[in-house]
Amino acid sequence: MAQLWGGRFTKKTDQMVYDFNASINFDKRLYKQDIAGSIAHVTMLAKQGILTIQEKEEIIKGLEGILSDVEAQKLEITSEYEDIHSFVEATLIDRIGEPGKKLHTGRSRNDQVALDMKLYVREEVVEINTLLKELLNILLVTMEGNLNTYMPGFTHLQKAQPITLAHHMGAYFEMFKEDHERLLDVKKRLRTCPLGSGALAGTTYPLDRDYTASLLGFEGPTLNSMDGVSNRDYIIELLSALSTIMMHLSRFSEEVIIWNSNEYQFVEIDDAFSTGSSIMPQKKNPDIAELVRGKTGRVYGTLMAFLSTMKSIPLAYNKDMQEDKEGVFDAIDTVKSCLILFSGMLETMKYNKDRMAISAKKGFTNATDAADYLVKNGVPFRDAHGYVGQLVLLCIEKGISLDELSLEEYQGICPVFKEDIYQEISLETCVNKRITTGAPGEEAMRHAIEYYKEYINKY
Ligand code: ARG
Repeated sequence: MAQLWGGRFTKKTDQMVYDFNASINFDKRLYKQDIAGSIAHVTMLAKQGILTIQEKEEIIKGLEGILSDVEAQKLEITSEYEDIHSFVEATLIDRIGEPGKKLHTGRSRNDQVALDMKLYVREEVVEINTLLKELLNILLVTMEGNLNTYMPGFTHLQKAQPITLAHHMGAYFEMFKEDHERLLDVKKRLRTCPLGSGALAGTTYPLDRDYTASLLGFEGPTLNSMDGVSNRDYIIELLSALSTIMMHLSRFSEEVIIWNSNEYQFVEIDDAFSTGSSIMPQKKNPDIAELVRGKTGRVYGTLMAFLSTMKSIPLAYNKDMQEDKEGVFDAIDTVKSCLILFSGMLETMKYNKDRMAISAKKGFTNATDAADYLVKNGVPFRDAHGYVGQLVLLCIEKGISLDELSLEEYQGICPVFKEDIYQEISLETCVNKRITTGAPGEEAMRHAIEYYKEYINKY
């Protein structure tokens, strides 16, 4: 039990109490941020004449030594310490003696941990955005290569109208692009530095909080010390953004699972991203997509758990807030591994273009276009809808598609049909006539791709 307090206690802490209270087992991953914060703090203390230059130099040297030894695995962060802050301070005192005892001047673990988490989230947001960019790139390449890869578009999971693979991928590009924007928004909430808020009421030392903030890359200090130590709103925003990323990955996974099914066979997931069955030799399962879909639940859970944790906490710091860490770390790790694996699966997935095109042709995805043909030739839409409905019924009876009916059959139901109907309801025409902004036609998609390329370049 190595803890930073105890002077006013007459009894030793019970081991179970100590273990319940300790956070070292999970907050040890904040060692880098904790040391960076301490270095900035003592640099400021020396500038303000609160520490001597020599004390500052000894402390910084000691902290840098701890950092490099931890990274080189020469120094282990053990559960003998209560938390990462105690570990760093106690190790520093062990190593450099007296000056080490001055590190905590004008600081509390409350503003210290508030800073560490902000620094950690700031780095992770950048990493997640890099992973999102890789996914956006894969989507863009797939879009560029599949402007004429036809497939059915669905509503209610029933074939609706033909689209292209490029268009389908474009929908996901939009979703992940907005996810990137949401994370940039979270970054805006990370602009101010809580260090110097003290336990809750600032400090009587003449700290230069602007200076500390600038050393750590913040725009400035937080402006209320109570809020500084107890604000975790940015974590809730982060968890919400991460939940939305998972929701998108989960919807996409669900589609991949359907497309990869024996019935659809639109895609084949690469062997490297599939798994087998211990009993059924023929199986090749989409476990990665299923796991991504499944893990969505735990990220949502973390958001709900932490919202609940925060909801009744009076100002300022309360120990409840320690509960932010395990969930946030897990949510970040989960999202990162899901993005990496999903991107790898997507990049290596093979598209069965013939099957997709055949599927787009079957299922009367061109029925709307047949009705539009009649409208363009003077038939009111409601009547045209009725005629094409009859044609569909005829096709179902004969087990064929609209483009396989003879012209006589067409004219038997409505004499307005002419030879050019076949051209009008071909897959190519159905898709490429749709060129308004956002539509699947090649011309519209090329505009979208131009825009997406610029977006990625400016990322
Ligand atoms: N481990 C604590 C946390 O994560 C650090 C702050 C402790 N402060 C305190 N007053 N006990 O929130």
